[in-house]
Amino acid sequence: EKEQPAITTFHGYIPQVPTIDLSDPDEEKLTRLIVEASSEWGMFQIVNHGIPSDVISNLQKVGKEFFELPQEEKELYAKSPDSKSIQGYGSKLQKEVEGKKAWVDHLFHNIWPPPAIDYQFWPKKPPTYRAANEEYAKWLQGVADKLFGRLSLGLGLGEGTLKESVGGDELLYLLKINYYPPCPRPDLALGVVAHTDMSAITILIPNEVQGLQVFRDDHWFDVKYISNALVIHVGDQLEILSNGKYKAVLHRTTVNKEKTRMSWPV
Ligand code: OGA
Ligand code: NI
Repeated sequence: EKEQPAITTFHGYIPQVPTIDLSDPDEEKLTRLIVEASSEWGMFQIVNHGIPSDVISNLQKVGKEFFELPQEEKELYAKSPDSKSIQGYGSKLQKEVEGKKAWVDHLFHNIWPPPAIDYQFWPKKPPTYRAANEEYAKWLQGVADKLFGRLSLGLGLGEGTLKESVGGDELLYLLKINYYPPCPRPDLALGVVAHTDMSAITILIPNEVQGLQVFRDDHWFDVKYISNALVIHVGDQLEILSNGKYKAVLHRTTVNKEKTRMSWPV
């Protein structure tokens, strides 16, 4: 009863997570908005982030094509049960945490830096999967650098400090694709259960099906996704590095009775 989405989702006036224009020429204002959103929400959306929309739609297209392959094709990339690596294809429906199942399949693989990439976990079908993911990884770094720069300034540090602290050029970009098929009981099942991300920051692209929820003021709220925005989550590592100034955000996802939801957090 404490977790069922139908019972625990707040309806009524819904505060919206901040939306920030990353192309704002007013640098001080931009820093202030990012710092406030990261301190008060731990989550925000960014628009005008500079990643071309076809780079994003290609990433979504090849990911969707992979998940629509027959099960045997996907299982070529399956994590073995004893694997110590997070990379590979898997399902939370098969794995019970405290007796609970979540309605999601996923694929994890590193997308940057090159020495961290292991192409055995990258789907060979569709054939454009690799190029689309490499292209996205290239663009994403510009956004990550900008965010780390602002977040550093907000701690009174030089612009490059946080990025260096989380690995500098060796900072690992781990892509997860979430695939939430239609679910007969979206009132009962969650896609991913409540959690904070283990990352420093998470940069997420969803598809057009809403489902992300954020916990705030003791309630679960739907996050209204804005088209072409990137959703940013403060993760555990940034909360710790900032001595709690920036807050790792508690979030979860709901599922849909008719539609397949997908998301691409890095
Ligand atoms: C996650 C996550 C949110 C989403 O995979 O960690 O929070 O919108 N996903 O799918
Ligand atoms: Ni998450």
